[in-house]
Amino acid sequence: MQVLHVIATPRSAMSATLRVSTPFLEQLQLACPGAQVETLDLFTADMPTVAGQNIDSKYDIMRGRPIEPSRAAPWRSIEALIGQFQRADICLISSPMWNFSIPYALKYYIDAIVQPGYLFAYDETGVPVGRCGGKKLVCVTSRGGDYSAGSPMQVLDLQEPYLRTIFGFVGITDMEFINVQPTDLGPARREEAIGAGIVAARQLADRLAPALQG
Ligand SMILES: Cc1cc2nc3c(=O)[nH]c(=O)nc-3n(C[C@H](O)[C@H](O)[C@H](O)COP(=O)(O)O)c2cc1C
Repeated sequence: MQVLHVIATPRSAMSATLRVSTPFLEQLQLACPGAQVETLDLFTADMPTVAGQNIDSKYDIMRGRPIEPSRAAPWRSIEALIGQFQRADICLISSPMWNFSIPYALKYYIDAIVQPGYLFAYDETGVPVGRCGGKKLVCVTSRGGDYSAGSPMQVLDLQEPYLRTIFGFVGITDMEFINVQPTDLGPARREEAIGAGIVAARQLADRLAPALQG
């Protein structure tokens, strides 16, 4: 079983998000000893360009044309990133909320991998169809404020709805969210939120493990 851990916080040891996603991974590896975990740290990785020749290649694909040979080499770096995502049985995204949505590094990653002919394709009527069915997505997010269901802040949460939309678009139906909140309304509430997140993360790993082993 392949696990891809996509890290979208630059705060490493200080990260509230990683304090919850790390126990999730540890529990998953305990429950599924064969699990192979690959980490993609979006703030330190050398990412392919999502501009210039690679944008021209994207439009070639969208128009049903082969990629121009002179642009094939840079496109291979996009394909390598897509391949890493496609190989994962389960993708874990660790993302703080930034300005009500996701950090730019995660948006950049999404812009790089969500390509026609790879993560989705158009059917004969021109309707896009996702190709990533069967993959599991676990999103651990953390937020300075509290955007829980029923709270006055809930309408400002553009993070979970966006992640559900874009990964639903590519065909993923099996998504789980652990939203750790509030992390910036005092140390007591922060530790309480992280503690609850860790409990939820371990429970989720135990719940997912049997299906992942089979
Ligand atoms: C650039 C930036 C933007 C942020 N925007 C929001 C926001 O819109 N809403 C919010 O509740 N918290 C916001 N925060 C706070 C973080 O979401 C919060 O501290 C989170 O727990 C950080 O996670 P991390 O420690 O894993 O990076 C922001 C933090 C940064 C650095």
